Amino acid sequence: MNELLQQLTIEQKVDLLSGLHSWWTRGQEQPYVPQIMMTDGPCGLRKQSATADNINDSSIATCYPTACSLANSWDRDLAFSVGSAIGAEARAEQVSIVLGPGVNIKRNPLCGRNFEYYSEDPFLTGRLADKWIEGIQSQKVGACVKHFAVNSQETRRSTIDTLVDERALREIYLSAFEYITLNSKPCSIMAAYNKLNGVSCAQNKRLLTDILRGEWGYEGLVMSDWGAAYNIVECIRNGMDLEMPDGLGLSKKALLEAVKNGELDVSDIDRAVANVLKLVFARKKDITEKAVVDLAEQHLLAKETATECATLLKNNLNVLPLKPEQKVLVVGELAKNMRFQGAGSSHIHVSPTPNLLDTLRLNNIDVGYARGYDASTDEINSELIEQACNSAKDYDIIVFCGGLTDIYESEGYDREHLDMPLAQSHLISKLTKLGKKTVFVSFGGSPYIIPYVDEIDAILNMYLCGQGAGEATYELLYGIKNPCGKLSETWPKKLSSVPCYNFFNRKIRSSEHRESIFVGYRYYDTFDVPTLFDFGYGLSYTQFEYSDFTVNKNNVYNYTVSVKVKNIGSTSGKEVVQLYIANPRQDIIRAKRELKGFAKTDLLEPNEEQEIIFTLDKRSFAFYDVTKSDYVVPSGKYTLQIGGGLKQIKATKVITVSGETIPSMQADYPSYFEQNGDTFFIPEDEFVKLLGRPLIEDGEFHKGEFTLSNTLYDMRANRFIRFITNIVIKQTIKSMGMSKHNPAVKMAISGTLETPLINATAMSQGVFKRKFCQALVYIANGKFFKGIGHLLSKEK
Ligand code: BGC
Repeated sequence: MNELLQQLTIEQKVDLLSGLHSWWTRGQEQPYVPQIMMTDGPCGLRKQSATADNINDSSIATCYPTACSLANSWDRDLAFSVGSAIGAEARAEQVSIVLGPGVNIKRNPLCGRNFEYYSEDPFLTGRLADKWIEGIQSQKVGACVKHFAVNSQETRRSTIDTLVDERALREIYLSAFEYITLNSKPCSIMAAYNKLNGVSCAQNKRLLTDILRGEWGYEGLVMSDWGAAYNIVECIRNGMDLEMPDGLGLSKKALLEAVKNGELDVSDIDRAVANVLKLVFARKKDITEKAVVDLAEQHLLAKETATECATLLKNNLNVLPLKPEQKVLVVGELAKNMRFQGAGSSHIHVSPTPNLLDTLRLNNIDVGYARGYDASTDEINSELIEQACNSAKDYDIIVFCGGLTDIYESEGYDREHLDMPLAQSHLISKLTKLGKKTVFVSFGGSPYIIPYVDEIDAILNMYLCGQGAGEATYELLYGIKNPCGKLSETWPKKLSSVPCYNFFNRKIRSSEHRESIFVGYRYYDTFDVPTLFDFGYGLSYTQFEYSDFTVNKNNVYNYTVSVKVKNIGSTSGKEVVQLYIANPRQDIIRAKRELKGFAKTDLLEPNEEQEIIFTLDKRSFAFYDVTKSDYVVPSGKYTLQIGGGLKQIKATKVITVSGETIPSMQADYPSYFEQNGDTFFIPEDEFVKLLGRPLIEDGEFHKGEFTLSNTLYDMRANRFIRFITNIVIKQTIKSMGMSKHNPAVKMAISGTLETPLINATAMSQGVFKRKFCQALVYIANGKFFKGIGHLLSKEK
């Protein structure tokens, strides 16, 4: 590789550092450098042709459960199988890298992309995604772990400055990335759009060079998220290797100039080029042979996986499973137009698969159906409600299918509230008053408030479980399969209970992660905040008994933990065994307990028993001590808790671990130890102390301060720019030929408004010329005539 590097001219080198069009790397004829193709990920393949102009326009592929759903399986082997199946499809399509998995931590259920992420817990996220990567890389297809790092929101995702203290950064937001890079060793990592503590992720030396390569020893390639290389010179200098997509010659020019001026060292270019060469040669070699996949078999895996991911959240008087002889009315458009995936870059173009109603009928189950609501709108439809209620009179059980509809969740924007569509909640209020048994089958990529939850008899939560949704729902409802998923995230009771409620999407310029490590159950559990459903929760059609919980010490921090789990019910089933460790010190900022081990049993027949074994190490007890820049274990008595959920602990054992003496943190940070009233509130001074840097002054951007790093959204106070923006948006909608209620349209609009102008040229494939963007900056700064002059000038 070194030899090849030396043969390349500087022009050839910089050429290799940007993509070609949307999905390819650039190659060279002489000396030969191959090109490879990458596609999205992560719940299937989204392979687009070079001319595809719509995000949903891609080749047919299998859609597996999205990450939010897969995570509820708590099944590492299953994650491997799904990764491997996607790898096989990629290979058959000659795709070298799949852009996934997404391992960002779910900070707030409102984040539009939560369905693409695994969990609020980094341990669960890291262990599952790691296996997914092993699976895909077992097919000799590369993974690209994204979005590095702390991409916690979609609103203004390209410009927001994410402020996170070092503890939360290490323990919550980086730890899954760390585990993955050290274990499955993904061939690439994608640097996120946002800034992290003041510096854009793709040009963040601390993140890409010091931590990723320096501390974790990562040897793969770092590419930018699409359009996230805002300043290519800074990116290459600080550790990014490949800009995606095409830099349209602008990046090449900037890099050549920087080298010429001595602003950028050739050794930085060489490092990046060496990483590109290593990647493309390895990946090209690996996909040369022709591979085929059997899509029918892939579908079967998608369906089987979906059955493993569902969570049974309520089952009063064992309403479920249903019996074929019961008279069932299925209500809800989502039973027919099933929602099984999210919108944006992970959207898979699937071939038609049977919906729930089709599946029931194919299996000779005679049910009634009423549409109940129109999924394309939130508006209450009294006629549909009345029809559903009238039909229900002739049936014993109502199976309501509903949840979040398409427009609610997508890449590119966040939800604004936790409620489900009004049309549905109104319908539920009526259905639950009919005196019938009601089963709620829930679809959606994130928690929401289920109204009238006390009046509903059973809740089967399917999340967004891929193209097998119809068949999987049928098998679970009728007990052909026993639900065995557990929630990988907390379902809050109300929005104001979410720990970052006061700090999420509240500011224009920054996102203060003031809640620090108190994300998800680490907050609800520690401060006894009531939830709708807890982390780790899920019921089954059978019951399990735990026995022989033993803990053996091997050396100072190394323990072997074992427990026996027996199926004591009358149906076969699987149990997710969870091991939590309760922290001994109440005066250090730390969650009451944390997940430190999990495993899923085999399918246990009634009376069958299985022993589950875990090993613990230093990290199982440690927290990240910023004063030592390392993980340390506080001495004390740790309680090991084992069971089928955070709140379903079946056995405990206390062990004494001798570690280090850690001073109390309570006097310095009192607010991190109390939760007063409705919401979690951390005052500025305590957060600033924890963060170790000043906050960013917020407010609208003003005339005089605009640069190409700003967005049209930032400049919206200017009338002329608003006028131009409206034209662009109208044109975008028109060219997409879709309704403005389509999430792809909403995402395109937010993309238009929120892309920094410096990258608008590349992201619009050259439609927004750099000259035009620069003219807008002049205009926004109050120099209208200079802007117009610039636009009319000959300069390119
Ligand atoms: C998304 C990435 C995706 C890329 C390519 C970006 O907008 O953030 O997750 O892989 O587009 O589609």
